[in-house]
Amino acid sequence: MPSTLSLSAGPLSLVLGLPDRGMPEILAFGRGAAAPAFWPDVPRSSRINGMDVDVPSAVLLPVTGLGAFGWPAISGHRDGRDFLLDFSGWAVRRDGKITVLTASDAVAGIDIEISILTSEAGVFGLSTRLSSVKDGVYTLDRCMAGSFLLPAGDATATRFTGMWGREFQIRRHPFAPGITLQESRRGRTSHDRQPYLGVAVGAARFAFHLGWSGNHLVAVDTLDDGRRLVHLGALFEPGEIRLSRSDSYQSPVVYAAEDAAALQAFVRSEVLSWPDGKMPPRPVTLNTWEGNYFDHRLDSLKAQADAAAALGIERFVLDDGWFGRRDDDTTSLGDWIVDRRKYPDGLKPLVDHVTSLGMQFGIWFEPEMVNEESDLYRAHPDWALKVEGRPFLRSRHQQVLDLTRSEVADYLFDKIAAVLSTLAISYIKWDMNRDLTHVGGADGRAVTTAQTRATHALMARVRAAFPHVEIESCASGGGRTDYGALANTQRVWTSDCTDALDRLEIQRGASLFLPPEIMGAHVSANPSHQSGRTLSLTFRALVAMAYHLGVELNPLDMTAAERTELAGYIALHKRLRPLLYAPGANFNLDPRDGRYVWGAMTSDHAAVFVAQGPTMIAEQPEPLVLRLPGAPEQMWRIAAAHGDCPTGFIRMSDGQMKLLSGELTFSAASLASAGLPLPMQRPETALLLELRPAP
Ligand code: GLA
Repeated sequence: MPSTLSLSAGPLSLVLGLPDRGMPEILAFGRGAAAPAFWPDVPRSSRINGMDVDVPSAVLLPVTGLGAFGWPAISGHRDGRDFLLDFSGWAVRRDGKITVLTASDAVAGIDIEISILTSEAGVFGLSTRLSSVKDGVYTLDRCMAGSFLLPAGDATATRFTGMWGREFQIRRHPFAPGITLQESRRGRTSHDRQPYLGVAVGAARFAFHLGWSGNHLVAVDTLDDGRRLVHLGALFEPGEIRLSRSDSYQSPVVYAAEDAAALQAFVRSEVLSWPDGKMPPRPVTLNTWEGNYFDHRLDSLKAQADAAAALGIERFVLDDGWFGRRDDDTTSLGDWIVDRRKYPDGLKPLVDHVTSLGMQFGIWFEPEMVNEESDLYRAHPDWALKVEGRPFLRSRHQQVLDLTRSEVADYLFDKIAAVLSTLAISYIKWDMNRDLTHVGGADGRAVTTAQTRATHALMARVRAAFPHVEIESCASGGGRTDYGALANTQRVWTSDCTDALDRLEIQRGASLFLPPEIMGAHVSANPSHQSGRTLSLTFRALVAMAYHLGVELNPLDMTAAERTELAGYIALHKRLRPLLYAPGANFNLDPRDGRYVWGAMTSDHAAVFVAQGPTMIAEQPEPLVLRLPGAPEQMWRIAAAHGDCPTGFIRMSDGQMKLLSGELTFSAASLASAGLPLPMQRPETALLLELRPAP
């Protein structure tokens, strides 16, 4: 008997109709979605020239060939046969927050299991499992994690574009008729095509994300009636997923929410895992990369640690260059043994020095990679992913190890474990510095999906064995930033670009699906190693301060005055970090005229960062409008102004001066409507306004 199923996640609801045969129909999705009492008695597909039976198109995971003509979310075959799927016998099982729908296709010999997670944070998570229950091999060409229904009407997509050093560049566009497709084939989440999609249709807002660090597909298909189906899932190479009897394919999870706030809350409550179940204060970090590159000198590193501790830094991360004979990026990946030329007594003297200063010690690994110029590759050339007879393409002089082979995964685990178990290390920067190409496993078949899973599994294994060790997910910056990676990591290296001007856009973009405390943001040297730009220390510090703050320079190269200034910003960050990371407090506005506004607010304190990137075009910035929590009639004032205030302003009136110095008060209601008339800011300046209720 057909039945309906209504599920809620915070303000969002999903209503499904479970038919006698065919895929579950999405009857409604969004705020206040409710089941139509007349379902399934009124046909939904009364197409002229259509089938004589009702074939709805707004279904979860459409399949084709039996009267539905949309983009198929699942497809496969047994050597060309069993190419049609038709599931029946839908059953529903509840398992805590997860509702599981199951059905079978007895002809094709395929069982399906769709898991629906409902989170109070306001997030749905869908994943799909297909199992073969028949002899022979079922080749699965595609299996999306899940599908969501969008209303008809003009819609605007929000997507990311980018490249190395330019991650999370927001682009908005209307949808074209038909299908909008994004495919990513780099074997990592990628810098250019994030598995993220935001959609605005009328007043409704949606945000989708696939928790997957490998090849992916995002498809938006327009139905005959103008509504749209959104599908996200992993993308397979030809012949990559072959299911023998009893084998299953389990998809990653696709998440759906209304907005960034819900996704961020979900990451905090359900994606991240912390050693004692609770996030410790995010330690201000010194990362040695830009200050040292491969030139590791023990005495200097110790002196840098001293200087870092004096600045108030709490975690010292030794980046690339400590192992093998790694004097540049041409050698040694795979040889995870300390370089005795640089560290004659091993790493212990440095680790002990750092920890004796009260700082945590972190270390860099790039486990999945190997240089051909390494002892590992010389011993095991067959451990690299390759396809016989095809070019063996290097990228950053490196190759990729086949982690789907247990001996490779065991080798890497043992090497990482040997370092972690002998030294007081509490943090790994886990890097991945190339796209995957020629991803052939031992039998010559593609293993991209399995490699992605094997990497997650290795991370999970390290976490399980060393639960006190936090991991940062890095892939040439933010190339592996997704909820699949975040299940085993606690920070992302948002971008290799540490230029604060470029970071405005990068951090704003990443904020669409990440909470600020897990986004690494470092103050780096002048001129910027990436852009060549020179920016004030104030600007560099304030642009980084609301995120997981770090420093990416050699502190010995700073003047005494610069160190004092930076120490002041680090102290300010520490004072503000409980506010900046408070649940539901952070915000990040769409920039206008080069002005970026972000920060955090609670009912008794707000930290508002205002940064002007490029020179303004208008003569006046629009008033600063913010919706503070608490009573609308509550009076507030600017209790402190830090950074480029007032020097960053052009032509300030007495009234504005009084406003900024806290002499004038304003109600929360007026701030939310009239706003604050701040003066025009010079380019590349930033200020931080602390707002407090007026006494
Ligand atoms: C990548 C990372 C950098 C640094 C280098 C080291 O580019 O993103 O932060 O760790 O590798 O080689």
